[in-house]
Amino acid sequence: TSAEDLQTLVLTTLDKGGHIHDSKDLTALDGQPLDQLNLLGVLNSLKSRDMVDYDTIDREIWVLTDEGRDLADTGSHEARVFSAVPPGDDGIAIAELQNLLGEAAKIGQGKAFKNRWINKKGTTHLVRTVESIVDQTQVDLREIRDTQTHKDAKVLVELKKRKLVDKRSNFSLTIEKQATDITFEMLQTGEWKTASFKKYNFDAVGLAPQGGHLHPLMKVREEFRHIFFEMGFEEMPTNKFVESSFWNFDALFQPQQHPARDSHDTFFLKDPATSDRFPADLAEKVKRTHENGGDTTSTGYNYRWKREEAEKLILRTHTTAVSSYMLYKLAQEEFRPAKYFSIDRVFRNESVDATHLAEFHQVEGVIADRGLTLGDLIGFMDVFFKKMGIERIRFKPAYNPYTEPSMEIFSYHPGLKQWVEIGNSGMFRPEMLIPLGLPPDVRVIAWGLGLERPTMIKYGISNIRDLLGHKVNLAMIKDYPICRFDKKMGRELVGVVQ
Ligand code: PHE
Repeated sequence: TSAEDLQTLVLTTLDKGGHIHDSKDLTALDGQPLDQLNLLGVLNSLKSRDMVDYDTIDREIWVLTDEGRDLADTGSHEARVFSAVPPGDDGIAIAELQNLLGEAAKIGQGKAFKNRWINKKGTTHLVRTVESIVDQTQVDLREIRDTQTHKDAKVLVELKKRKLVDKRSNFSLTIEKQATDITFEMLQTGEWKTASFKKYNFDAVGLAPQGGHLHPLMKVREEFRHIFFEMGFEEMPTNKFVESSFWNFDALFQPQQHPARDSHDTFFLKDPATSDRFPADLAEKVKRTHENGGDTTSTGYNYRWKREEAEKLILRTHTTAVSSYMLYKLAQEEFRPAKYFSIDRVFRNESVDATHLAEFHQVEGVIADRGLTLGDLIGFMDVFFKKMGIERIRFKPAYNPYTEPSMEIFSYHPGLKQWVEIGNSGMFRPEMLIPLGLPPDVRVIAWGLGLERPTMIKYGISNIRDLLGHKVNLAMIKDYPICRFDKKMGRELVGVVQ
């Protein structure tokens, strides 16, 4: 039996019963007894892999000596003596017995006397004292020959003294499959007390987790985060969806009658509908800047700014709401340059179609430092998008209420053979930064892009409703691979800021 066959035999037997009491009882498929030494080799290899455990059963085996084998076949000396003595009162002369049996006569007589099978008649003759005998020695020898042992240890000692049997040592094994866990059944039967448990293997590689998979959007988010961290950015706390209009619009110098504030574009909260939790002194400065330019050289929008409008709670329409709050916080202390980023969800009251949902994610970067220029913004965009694998970008003048200049970012899409918008950027206006309290020479460059578009391209999803929302197949979330930006995909990876 090959080692491989032995291993299969052991494992299948253990799978059925959990243990093998004595490997001596284990036979090969052809019914042959197994070589215990080969078996030991196989078990050691299984044990080293913590698959089984075993104990050695040291056992004595008894074998017959040549003489013992002879007597097992033909009967003991004492029995031969008895048979040589004829029944009746005449008996047999000792000298004749000697002639008949030779050496056996001497040993046999002593035993036969002891067994009270014969007696002396006078000094020269022997007679039977019983009619028949059982040759127990022969019975014992045959038992030892057949079973390699005897149930009565005294018999073994006695026969060894008579040099009819000999002791050999031998072994077999008791094999157990190691338990890996306590089961209900083990507790119920009490088996846990004696079961052999597999040792913890702290070097083992764990099973792939069944849950806890990142959504593709979150996988792509991880890639963006790495780019930002690599470039020395801090992550902004975007962990709230509800904002006051103040941080989302007013602090960004977005006039209160701006169409984006319309309920067609923005979700307003019903309950609570408002919050006045924004700094009063800042609100005052924002009001003056909107109305007449305040402390800036701007003339403002020339309308009456209403606090009630700023207090309206909304689902934030862009993560720039958090950027304005973070810049305000930055301005509260002595100025230090800062690089912030966020990647989180925003909401817009849009009609839903294959490429638009009412909620999506924005990637946003903000850099504040003294004397930054538009050249810094362009240079920075180059580096940032190259890290995504996008080599060729172009800028187009655009408009945002809070940036001047503003630039849409375009990337050349080799597949579509055209320039595609991938982001929006600009330098925050003094009308936004001065009221926040930043020193007048501090410039803030910022940009934003959508997370959904690059994710859909990366994972080959054409309908946004297959990516986000109630129709999403949960299994696909589990099955999608992790995301890595590489040069090749980057050329395809174009996103549109909505
Ligand atoms: N907030 C802009 C948007 O929602 C993106 C942007 C961020 C533009 C920062 C300029 C600067 O589209």
